[in-house]
Amino acid sequence: MRFYILTLFPEMVTSALLTSIIGKAAKKGILEIEGVNIRDFTRDRHQKVDDYPYGGGAGMVMQAQPIYDAYCSVAEKIGRRPRTVYLTPQGKTFTQAKAKELACTEDLVFLCGHYEGVDERVLEEIVTDYVSIGDYVLTGGELAAMVMVDAIARMVPGVLTNEKSACTESFEGNLLEYPQYSRPVEWNGKRVPDVLLSGDHGKVELWRREQSILRTRQFRPDLLKNAELTLREKAVYGVNDGKI
Ligand code: ADE
Repeated sequence: MRFYILTLFPEMVTSALLTSIIGKAAKKGILEIEGVNIRDFTRDRHQKVDDYPYGGGAGMVMQAQPIYDAYCSVAEKIGRRPRTVYLTPQGKTFTQAKAKELACTEDLVFLCGHYEGVDERVLEEIVTDYVSIGDYVLTGGELAAMVMVDAIARMVPGVLTNEKSACTESFEGNLLEYPQYSRPVEWNGKRVPDVLLSGDHGKVELWRREQSILRTRQFRPDLLKNAELTLREKAVYGVNDGKI
């Protein structure tokens, strides 16, 4: 899978993403992350990529031409028009389901806006998905793109060494993850739950499942209506069509 991030700050994105697990996957050739500097495509002799908004108002608007040319350089390289995500608080909220869906794409472009916005005409021309990472406003799309690339890349087969962990963790089946413990058995006066020391895998699985349901009910009751629960679990934990 290849990620192309169109941005005015390519190092910001690549340096953070190429560290740690995603960086290891890139070194192994499982994925590629390329920061594409929009400024490299300006035709302005002062390297300008923004201008005043028509109609007046505060701030500057990123111009269409350098963004379009940056996009075209990617499209030409891969031989077709790629799926292109524009990071904006006006987009649909990013979810695990969206991460999974996008993880099936071979080439994915992210457009990071800045200043007061981006000329609408280039958005109309290239964007396939408008995505927000939450109901707050960032100074630019870079952090949002990094969040998305991280969440998508870890779904790509081979990126996580423990393949199972992508399936059992928070949000799979719309349940939060159960609590985890490691050595020592007692820390700060607190003991690891006995069931985890019992060696009985069946009991451990049952306990973890129960903890997942209880946690979801406590912290994210909104997820429960879409959780995959058995009829028995619904009865035991008092889950009724999402209303508890
Ligand atoms: N750009 C600025 N704020 C954003 C947000 N919340 N999500 C995605 N992109 C953004």
